[in-house]
Amino acid sequence: MSADVLMMAGLRPAALATLEQACRVHRIDRADDKAAILRDHGAGCRAIVTNGHTPIDDALLDQLPALEIVCCSSAGYDAFDLDALARRGVRLTNASPALAQEVADMAMLLASAAWRNLVAGDEWVRSGDWAAKGEFPLQRGLRGRRLGIVGMGTIGQHVADLAGLMGLQVSYWNRSAKPVDHAYQPDLIQLATDSDILIVIVAGGEGTRGLISAPVIDALGAQGLLVNVARGSVVDEEALIAALQSGSLGSAALDVFASEPDVDARLRALPNVTLSPHQGSGTIETREAMSALAVDNLIAHLEGRPLLSEIAL
Ligand code: DGY
Repeated sequence: MSADVLMMAGLRPAALATLEQACRVHRIDRADDKAAILRDHGAGCRAIVTNGHTPIDDALLDQLPALEIVCCSSAGYDAFDLDALARRGVRLTNASPALAQEVADMAMLLASAAWRNLVAGDEWVRSGDWAAKGEFPLQRGLRGRRLGIVGMGTIGQHVADLAGLMGLQVSYWNRSAKPVDHAYQPDLIQLATDSDILIVIVAGGEGTRGLISAPVIDALGAQGLLVNVARGSVVDEEALIAALQSGSLGSAALDVFASEPDVDARLRALPNVTLSPHQGSGTIETREAMSALAVDNLIAHLEGRPLLSEIAL
């Protein structure tokens, strides 16, 4: 089965060991001279193992004429030129099944933390001035609130399940209705109008750039909370900042940003924003499962077995 594989981004150690046992791995994730590795080994590589943040485009693919498959250890693959992969008949897998529950947990964690003002409460205690400050301002309860989910994929369904347990009323927007027990709202502005909290979980990429636009943000309103665990590109960040500054949007909880890891200083200065450093899938167990899934897909391909999580191109 041994095949030449180009590794463009790191894997967790156990998955890397499995990969190195099964294949000849050419690593450019930490190499100083990537061009030399590509020149010496690119022509023979049948597979890429990477994550969705490392670009794959025609210029790279021209150097990999034997490429059959890209195994991505993340859910997102917005840095890939999908048309270029499709034109060359290259298959693609991602790691969505391995992280769906974890990202859903993070979405609800952020929603709860922002709604209940957890970070300000932490500062209240940490300041040592609790006695002088008195009782922390009361918050609004979460139960019975209306939650709009933008994107009813696997993660969206896990969010809906958790939200149900927490007593929230769930509606959702998706490109098309899904066979789920929740109200479908095909008009995103109407969903925002009818929601107290909007959780964004659609895939990134050109198809969803700016989907959460100024009118959607305005519709969520002065009491509303926007949670983004998808990609920074999905939200119009300028419109979001303006709405948070003016108070036309109540608050936001963000795990992803337009230019991360650089985060706009205006966002960092706002008290009505809860910030998280892109940690939706960031547990040891989930990152190991994501790496393992990328390698399992690769080995399945090389052995001629069905792939575990193929993306149709
Ligand atoms: C994913 O898997 O896409 C997460 O956002 C981590 O990059």
